[in-house]
Amino acid sequence: MVSEVDDQFSLGVHDVEAVPRDDSDVLIAVDFSGINFKDAMVASAKSRVRRVASLIGGVDAAGTVVASTLPHLPVGTRVAAHGGQLGVARDGGFAQFLYAPERYLSPLPDAISTHDAMVIGTAGFTAMESILALEDHGLHVGGEVLVTGATGGVGSHAVTYLAARGYHAVASTGSTKDAQWLREQGATRVIGRDEVSDQTSRVLGTELWDGAIDCVGGSTLAQLLRSLRYGAAVAASGLVANAELATTVYPFITRSVSLLGIDSVEASGETRQRVWSSLGEIVASLDLDPLVDREVQLEQLPGALEDIRSGRTRGRILVLPNAS
Ligand SMILES: NC(=O)c1ccc[n+]([C@@H]2O[C@H](COP(=O)([O-])OP(=O)(O)OC[C@H]3O[C@@H](n4cnc5c(N)ncnc54)[C@H](OP(=O)(O)O)[C@@H]3O)[C@@H](O)[C@H]2O)c1
Repeated sequence: MVSEVDDQFSLGVHDVEAVPRDDSDVLIAVDFSGINFKDAMVASAKSRVRRVASLIGGVDAAGTVVASTLPHLPVGTRVAAHGGQLGVARDGGFAQFLYAPERYLSPLPDAISTHDAMVIGTAGFTAMESILALEDHGLHVGGEVLVTGATGGVGSHAVTYLAARGYHAVASTGSTKDAQWLREQGATRVIGRDEVSDQTSRVLGTELWDGAIDCVGGSTLAQLLRSLRYGAAVAASGLVANAELATTVYPFITRSVSLLGIDSVEASGETRQRVWSSLGEIVASLDLDPLVDREVQLEQLPGALEDIRSGRTRGRILVLPNAS
């Protein structure tokens, strides 16, 4: 539980009764949750992301429906819960039980266990949503697709899924010690953070990338835009480096590049179904174990959140709310 009342900030594990906000809310018995960068922002003093003084954190969870009034989400349905207000403005997944409205819930394809759904989590969902957006824009197998922040949650899943779909994924990372690990996840090449574009003083750089998935923002995204091939696109989902974007219009008006905004939080039911279904098609071919940084119990969350905040993780941290 995150609490900040009268300037007193605390993180703790407490017995709290799960309470629905609406009669149609669905009760989920949570098997697994995961830690996202957003969870670390919520669990910080004076957070600008958290919308209420106290709540149970966790922007995503996977488990089984144990009480429902909705005929299409009957008891026993395995679901992923993520996005919307979960873990931001209402109780989230760092708990044994979670009430969630239907619009935050996705029935899982048979191929995806609740464990694997949380190895994937919001990060993996966003990675696949980014790939589908690039494909809708015209990306096809052949050239190189750049992934920034490649050892992180979104980045490592993007590399893995791109490789599974036959793309040449180039991983950009500040963690050069993890280059071999990134190759093992399917990266065909690994480059440093400062190699996203060439360093000429020209407004536009050399055309390098057939597509890109960026969760870093700031100058990385600006450099990327000047290095996309003619007509290519970058799917942008994050801001770990910076929320500012200083660019020119030249990439857009002389190379016809596109900046595709990716949002998982308010993704429509149709998008959620499409993304989970695409994940279901490849999950059997993936080795997800290397994408798990570690598993933690609720009591270990403060340290794990700090590791995410300081970029000390590789892949996803799984949360097991039922472990004693
Ligand atoms: N739009 C959405 O719906 C959505 C959904 C999920 C996440 N996000 C956003 O996407 C971003 C990534 O989330 P995540 O869960 O993947 O986070 P994460 O696991 O912490 O990964 C972020 C990665 O970015 C790189 N990085 C960290 N600090 C950096 C810096 N100062 N400059 C450049 N690179 C840096 C690191 O990778 P390397 O060491 O390999 O460089 C790090 O592992 C966050 O901003 C998050 O809020 C958005």
